[in-house]
Amino acid sequence: MRLKDRVAVITGGGSGIGKATALLFAKEGAKIAIFEIAEDNAREAVKEVEAEGGTAIYALANVASESEVEVGVQKVIDTFGRIDILFNNAGAHRYPHTSTPIDELPESEWDRIVDSHLKGCFLCSKHAVRQMKKQKSGVIVNIASISGLVGIPYVHNYGAAKHGIIGLTKELAVELADFGIRANAVAPASVDTPMRWHGGKGISDEVRAEISRTIPLKRIAQPEEIAQGVLYLASDESSFVTGAVLPIDGGYVAQ
Ligand SMILES: NC(=O)c1ccc[n+]([C@@H]2O[C@H](COP(=O)([O-])OP(=O)(O)OC[C@H]3O[C@@H](n4cnc5c(N)ncnc54)[C@H](O)[C@@H]3O)[C@@H](O)[C@H]2O)c1
Repeated sequence: MRLKDRVAVITGGGSGIGKATALLFAKEGAKIAIFEIAEDNAREAVKEVEAEGGTAIYALANVASESEVEVGVQKVIDTFGRIDILFNNAGAHRYPHTSTPIDELPESEWDRIVDSHLKGCFLCSKHAVRQMKKQKSGVIVNIASISGLVGIPYVHNYGAAKHGIIGLTKELAVELADFGIRANAVAPASVDTPMRWHGGKGISDEVRAEISRTIPLKRIAQPEEIAQGVLYLASDESSFVTGAVLPIDGGYVAQ
């Protein structure tokens, strides 16, 4: 087991990539704490981890709210006594503004996306790091995107947040190295989760075909394929890796 008895906080762990990672981490021996705004999803994810013989709790926490993050982090420490891994994965989807030009984007949409992705990453790191510093160890994995590495039309707010997350990952890596804390990011291309398009219902067949054509491996990723990269960065197998960005994108940014 690669994460035996490690305590892992997974934000947005009630769905998609976060849930796949929670299940994989639990299989590798980690105790899971999910931060979610969707309580039904969080409850279901906890049940699924437990059904596989794992241990999990959830905290209802909007990652963009400092007070809710603080309460969530305290709940994890009260329950498990430590935080070894933080996977900053939560974030809102852009629907219905998936193709809104920048000159028509409402300010509230900018804030909704940037706050849930980038500010959430800052706030969860801030509060988890306080505990990790006491332990003199910890690992942070942030989820960026190919939108954090290249420009894509109409992806302005999300792309800015994801570029920011990559910048923040590098900052965390160099600032926290002396405390025994590593920080890295994964950058997926399109993944088959409820987040993309279709009002959170998943990817329509038409969009799936359109996206697949843009990817060298000619398909969309499954959430489990992203979780495997997160596991590598969260485990001791990556003990000399910090400040790195791992594209998991079927070759998209290699073009
Ligand atoms: N799906 C993709 O194609 C894709 C590609 C690249 C990167 N990503 C990134 O992966 C991450 C997970 O996306 P997914 O595709 O699994 O989406 P998803 O919608 O399936 O899951 C996201 C989860 O985050 C939760 N959430 C949203 N806002 C939150 C908040 N403010 N506080 C706490 N929880 C919140 C949601 O309730 C949901 O359960 C996101 O950061 C996304 O940007 C996704």
